[in-house]
Amino acid sequence: MTDIPTLEQILTRAVRAPSSHNTQPWLFRPGEDRIELLADRTRALPANDPDDRELTISCGCALFNLRVAIAAAHLGCVTATMPDPDDEDLLARLDLTGPVDAALAALAPAIEARQTFRAAFDKRPVAPEHVAALTDAATAEGAWFAPLRDEAARAEAAALVAQGDAALWQDPSWRRELSQWMHPRRKGDGLTLPWLTLPAARLVVRSFDMGGGVAAHDASPRRGLAAAGGAGHRGRHPRANG
Ligand SMILES: Cc1cc2nc3c(=O)[nH]c(=O)nc-3n(C[C@H](O)[C@H](O)[C@H](O)COP(=O)(O)O)c2cc1C
Repeated sequence: MTDIPTLEQILTRAVRAPSSHNTQPWLFRPGEDRIELLADRTRALPANDPDDRELTISCGCALFNLRVAIAAAHLGCVTATMPDPDDEDLLARLDLTGPVDAALAALAPAIEARQTFRAAFDKRPVAPEHVAALTDAATAEGAWFAPLRDEAARAEAAALVAQGDAALWQDPSWRRELSQWMHPRRKGDGLTLPWLTLPAARLVVRSFDMGGGVAAHDASPRRGLAAAGGAGHRGRHPRANG
């Protein structure tokens, strides 16, 4: 049986994962030498994510952190995803057994350092070794990472993002849902804003279609664009189809 302080340390790291609208839509069920990860669908986003796709991706992020945290606690683990066909909320079962994965354990410091970055990126290109590391990391997890190098592919991706943004911002339910997840920092979840600006920001998001501005921003030329996906995500990119 894993001791309580170790378990606490593991779960503290797991919940540092990114999630859409910072909903943190996960639950953990510790057992005898086992941790189960469940979807918390009370934190779903029906307007933004009607099929719980982003909710599942968010839980996937928590699953990865969980595996890193387990390895960093010098424990082995064997992961089964969707282990019970009759329980679609049970996303993963991790049996704490087997050898410690040293490569995963080495990623633990990145859990504290990682955060979503929404400001403008540097103009300099992403170093080839970083692109190679991202590609290898995706492959190691049975996923793919495809840098968009030529201008046509980048323009197509930017146009798709702009189109998606415009469609979302035109939808009042989507804007209402976004404003509902704008929380003061002390609440611990949601998209945090300084409390003084929060009421105004909520009102703006609820009331105005800002899709044009957001889309135009995304369509501007950027360096370091990439597409990524899992085994089930096949796009039109040559790498993705291969
Ligand atoms: C599936 C998924 C979708 C996301 N979509 C967006 C997005 O469209 N725009 C954005 O700015 N951030 C997006 N994020 C980032 C989250 O808002 C962010 O992870 C969350 O607010 C927690 O902040 P942190 O990553 O800094 O810990 C997404 C994250 C996930 C996991």
